[in-house]
Order: sequence, then structure tokens, then C-alpha cells
Amino acid sequence: MFLAPILVAAALPALAAAAVPSLNVPACPSKGSVSYNKSVPDLGPFPLTQVDVCYDSTAIHITFTAHNETNFFVNPNFTTNDPIYEYTAMETFISRTTNDPTTYLEFEIAPNNVTFQAFIYNPSKVSGQDTFYITTPIDDGLTATTTVDKPAGLWVSAVRIPLGLFNVDDGQAKGTQWRMNFFRIITSPKTFPDQFYGAWSPTPGSPANFHQTAELGHITFV
Ligand SMILES: *[C@@H]1O[C@H](CO)[C@@H](O)[C@H](O)[C@H]1NC(C)=O
Ligand SMILES: *[C@@H]1O[C@H](CO)[C@@H](O)[C@H](O)[C@H]1NC(C)=O
Ligand SMILES: *[C@@H]1O[C@H](CO)[C@@H](O)[C@H](O)[C@H]1NC(C)=O
Ligand SMILES: *[C@@H]1O[C@H](CO)[C@@H](O)[C@H](O)[C@H]1NC(C)=O
Repeated sequence: MFLAPILVAAALPALAAAAVPSLNVPACPSKGSVSYNKSVPDLGPFPLTQVDVCYDSTAIHITFTAHNETNFFVNPNFTTNDPIYEYTAMETFISRTTNDPTTYLEFEIAPNNVTFQAFIYNPSKVSGQDTFYITTPIDDGLTATTTVDKPAGLWVSAVRIPLGLFNVDDGQAKGTQWRMNFFRIITSPKTFPDQFYGAWSPTPGSPANFHQTAELGHITFV
């Protein structure tokens, strides 16, 4: 009885550390795949979301698959680097490091194929402090293709992210280690601006805050 609080206190850091998932990512065309179906921060039911990752000699390839999307609700006026995270989006944070990163790429895509891409400087590791936009993503080879099947409730975006953004030279990706997380944001005309969130590695606390870099999963390119 009296021991219980001590046991709980001792167990929490271990549980938190164990809760951060990891993934081995092979060279394309093989893929490392994750899926998630829990909401953030409540860990309630969330529409199934899959992410497939592989690398080739020049880029990381990420395919985001949203099942059971019902509204596909976007702001049609938004274009590159507008705040698409206010509507419906899937996204990743990526850093080529093994520690909890202070700088990482935030890449997001909406069901209408509009993208947001910026490096985030987050020295507190819990709240982005500055945003460095990538202003010419297509020229940089940061490209995406999106297919939407509304009757099937399905939305797939396949994204190419150059290795050079992370100081990985062409052909040198094998063996590199990364921190990444994957997120999905859902909203609808009825609920906007309220949103429903899901994540591969759920971030704690309410309101939901994805910018907690301790929660980024561990990725190894094998
Ligand atoms: C959610 O995912 C878990 C495993 O990741 C699985 O066991 C469970 O059946 C899934 N639930 C639904 C509703 O898809
Ligand atoms: C979710 O989507 C899957 C296929 O993508 C489908 O089999 C399932 O019935 C859907 N569930 C709901 C609740 O719509
Ligand atoms: C998009 O722009 C048009 C024209 O300015 C405006 O009428 C409309 O309300 C805007 N839509 C949204 C969702 O902001
Ligand atoms: C999406 O944007 C990319 C550029 O990132 C473009 O090549 C593609 O044609 C666009 N449209 C679709 C439907 O994917």
C-alpha cells in the first residue's frame, strides 16, 4: 500500500521510454510500415491511418494512407505553406538524429495535394519557436502525389523528401538513424475549427501538442 506511490513513480519513466515506438526502414521497393488508430491525447478510437516508408539513393519516400475519411475538408484558398494544419492533413516530423531533436522538418499534406514544409526550431523540445519555410519545394525535389476516393473514404498521398535536406549524401542512407513521428488531423464543416487528432507515437497532454520531440519514434534505415 505505502509502496505503491514509489512503484508508480519509478515505473513511469520506464513506461514513457518504452512507449516510444521504433521502425526499421528498408531500401525501396521494400517498405517499413506502421499504422495507428488511436486519438491524441485521449487514446480513443481513431480512423485507421497507415504510413509506409522506404529510401532510395536520393530520397525518403513516405506514403500516407487515410482510411475512413468522411469530409476531406480543406480551405480551397490555401496554397503552399499556408496553415493547412487548421483543416484536414497528414504530416510527419523528421530529424536525422537519435536524441530528442531541437530542429526537424515538418511536412504536411492536405487531401487537395497542398503541402506545408518547414524546418522547425524547437529548443525547448515542447513548443516550436521558429519556422524556416521551404519556399520552392518542387524545385528542391520535395514532391507529392495525392489520390482521393471519396466513396471509399480513402485518401493516399505519396511524398518524396530529398536526403540532402538532412545532410545525407546520395547513396549514403543505409545505416542512418532518425527520429520521426506521423500525425493525422481531421475536421469537418460542422466541427471546424475543432479538430480530431491521431498519431503513430501519441503526444501527451491537452490540448494536443505534436511538438514534443521526446515522443518522436526511432527509425533506422537498414
Ligand atoms: C487498432 O490497432 C490495433 C493494433 O495496432 C488492433 O489490435 C486493433 O484491432 C485496431 N482497432 C481497430 C478498431 O481497427
Ligand atoms: C473503414 O475503412 C475500411 C476500409 O478502408 C472499411 O472496411 C471499414 O468498414 C471502414 N469503417 C467505417 C466505420 O467506416
Ligand atoms: C476563399 O476565398 C473566397 C474569395 O476571397 C472567399 O469568399 C471564401 O470565403 C474563402 N474561403 C475560405 C474557406 O476561407
Ligand atoms: C500534387 O503536387 C505535385 C507536386 O508536389 C504534382 O506533381 C502533382 O501533379 C500534384 N497533383 C496530384 C493530383 O498529385
